[in-house]
Amino acid sequence: ALTILSLLTLVHGSSESNLYTGVSNYTFSEDFIFGVATAAFQIEGAWNEGGKGESIWDTYLHKNPNFTLDSLNGDVAADSYHKYEEDIAMIESLGVKYYRLSISWPRILPQGTDNYISEDGKKYYRTLFESLLKANITPIVTLFHWDIPTPLMDLGGWTNPKIVDYFEDYARVAFNLFGDLIKIWTTINEPHQHCINGYGNVFFVPALDSHGIGEYLCTHYILLSHARAYRLYHKDFRPHQHGKIGITLDSFGVNPKNESNLDDHIAAEEYLQMHLGLYAHPIFSSTGDYPKFVRNRVDHMSYEQGYTRSRLPYFSEEEIALLKGSSDFFGLNHYTTYLISHCSWDKSWRIPSLDQDNGVCLEQNLTWTKPGADWFTVYPPGFRKILNYIKRNYGDVPIIVTENGLCDYGGLEDYERVSYFNKYLYQLLLAVNVDKCNVIGYFAWTLMDDFEWNDGYVTKFGLFHVDYNSPERTRTPKLSATNYGHIVRTRKIDF
Ligand code: NOJ
Repeated sequence: ALTILSLLTLVHGSSESNLYTGVSNYTFSEDFIFGVATAAFQIEGAWNEGGKGESIWDTYLHKNPNFTLDSLNGDVAADSYHKYEEDIAMIESLGVKYYRLSISWPRILPQGTDNYISEDGKKYYRTLFESLLKANITPIVTLFHWDIPTPLMDLGGWTNPKIVDYFEDYARVAFNLFGDLIKIWTTINEPHQHCINGYGNVFFVPALDSHGIGEYLCTHYILLSHARAYRLYHKDFRPHQHGKIGITLDSFGVNPKNESNLDDHIAAEEYLQMHLGLYAHPIFSSTGDYPKFVRNRVDHMSYEQGYTRSRLPYFSEEEIALLKGSSDFFGLNHYTTYLISHCSWDKSWRIPSLDQDNGVCLEQNLTWTKPGADWFTVYPPGFRKILNYIKRNYGDVPIIVTENGLCDYGGLEDYERVSYFNKYLYQLLLAVNVDKCNVIGYFAWTLMDDFEWNDGYVTKFGLFHVDYNSPERTRTPKLSATNYGHIVRTRKIDF
């Protein structure tokens, strides 16, 4: 379809009417939520303006400029701190009515704690939220999208049990300051990626590289922090603010490496329990605890290494009660699919990594398109499968796809992205209409090219191009923006 599309455009130019050759047989209901998503650190810039404190990404990148592919940092980013009005106009132009964005914790609480609330920080977000509402766009706000205040990282970040209290304090401040305007909250974005890559490894900041230990401690206390914020909202705020609050988890799709090998099928299932179940099970299953398989596996591996305690902490009865059912919806971020097979702990690692605990290896299918970052291949059916996995394991909880989008190296005529959105959204339609998955919303990642963590500005996900060579950070719609707007307005996909 891509080549036909490209050829058509070569012949006819790229006006909207020439983009499409067919129509999907399913449509999106009128009340289906369409949105776009961003995150504070990736777009705001203004790292030290308005009395903002430092987050770990500020501090770490200033000290280690070569951490990113292009040695650039988030000091200015897309400059959305100053250009938010333009951002809002862009969202309006797409016709979407929802915008998922995050609050920078150190912009509100410069020292991380609620001993001092920044007036400027408060003013910035109030103005932003009010402007969105005035434009008829509902903001959905994430409390933590990876930019923990540096003073709290100095205390150990998500490995310190005290973080649960600090996060609850921050959540209380946010609900107090903005709860009259914000009716959908998410607590934590992708705890799995944050913990495994930042605490178990060096791919993300804080780059602790404490594999097999750091990611489990981070997981444990981030889950409890989420649950506390959820309970706080439901007890003290929801009765008069009438909103909803949930969490955003991420999952790759998985395929057994060899479809006819039972072992690979088991490995794929176990992989999902270890990566998605580790977070989803305590919140969405009736046990309120880690999956049994994960519990047994990490305990067993810990004892095998000679430890007398598991590297994965245990929840108390009280904590289980706190966690169980602590999300009003299932936020899912999904991008790509991997091939999974069994393989065992490489004993040259003194402590196994999470995947070595798990006993699996992942690799990519080299026949799938890889239009950008190394980790990213295109496999639309993986999306439908993961939506079904959630339904099968966690029932009819409403699913909001809080992120999905394509990674490339840039360009306004982004046919790969047009095709990606069409195909992934079609898989969503199949999941809803054929499989009866309860998906109520979808957020495209992302509104505009932004700071893509360790990739810097090299890889792109935007519907709008941002010119990072101009101090104005000029924004230009890509073909995919036109296409997404078309889907949102017509409620169908034209191929
Ligand atoms: C998920 C993360 O939430 C987001 O910050 C990131 O940019 C995208 N994945 C793409 O990698």
